[in-house]
Amino acid sequence: MHDGRGHRTLPTVEDTEALGRELAAQLHAGDLVVLDGPLGAGKTALTRGIAAGLGVQGRVSSPTFIIARQHRAGAEPGAVGLVHVDAYRLGGDLDELDALDLDTELDDAVVVVEWGLGVVEHLADRHLRVLLRREPESDTRTAEWEWVG
Ligand SMILES: Nc1ncnc2c1ncn2[C@@H]1O[C@H](COP(=O)(O)OP(=O)(O)OP(=O)(O)O)[C@@H](O)[C@H]1O
Ligand SMILES: [Mg+2]
Repeated sequence: MHDGRGHRTLPTVEDTEALGRELAAQLHAGDLVVLDGPLGAGKTALTRGIAAGLGVQGRVSSPTFIIARQHRAGAEPGAVGLVHVDAYRLGGDLDELDALDLDTELDDAVVVVEWGLGVVEHLADRHLRVLLRREPESDTRTAEWEWVG
């Protein structure tokens, strides 16, 4: 369905999660996904869809104190894990980012980083960049995605 880039209008949170499931179909261990968009744009909702598509364990949430959460691979053969990072609280602190050891995590998992634009791209040769936008006073979001690098 994708040739690696696209654009979609997302009227409901279910549509955002469904896009995440579709994007997961093109993700493999070692892939980096960078999510950008304002507060409440649906970055965590999209990550929930990616997690569902990969079939990983554990519930995706938007943790207050945890910067990165690991989700182990599901039982399917060839299943990969997911590391879900919320870089908002890092505030661009590169030492803290280094401490997460994401390049090691990338050896055998998909890494999704909310608020990762301009912060984590150096961790991989290329990344899937997803920009989410929010229509004022409406549930509708739009997503634009592209492999960069
Ligand atoms: N079309 C939509 N897509 C995604 N979320 C939607 C949509 N319509 C309504 N919502 C609601 O908007 C909120 C999106 O929250 P979510 O935590 O996914 O955003 P976020 O971008 O991760 O925010 P933050 O920057 O705080 O991490 C949820 O409450 C969700 O139910
Ligand atoms: Mg979030």
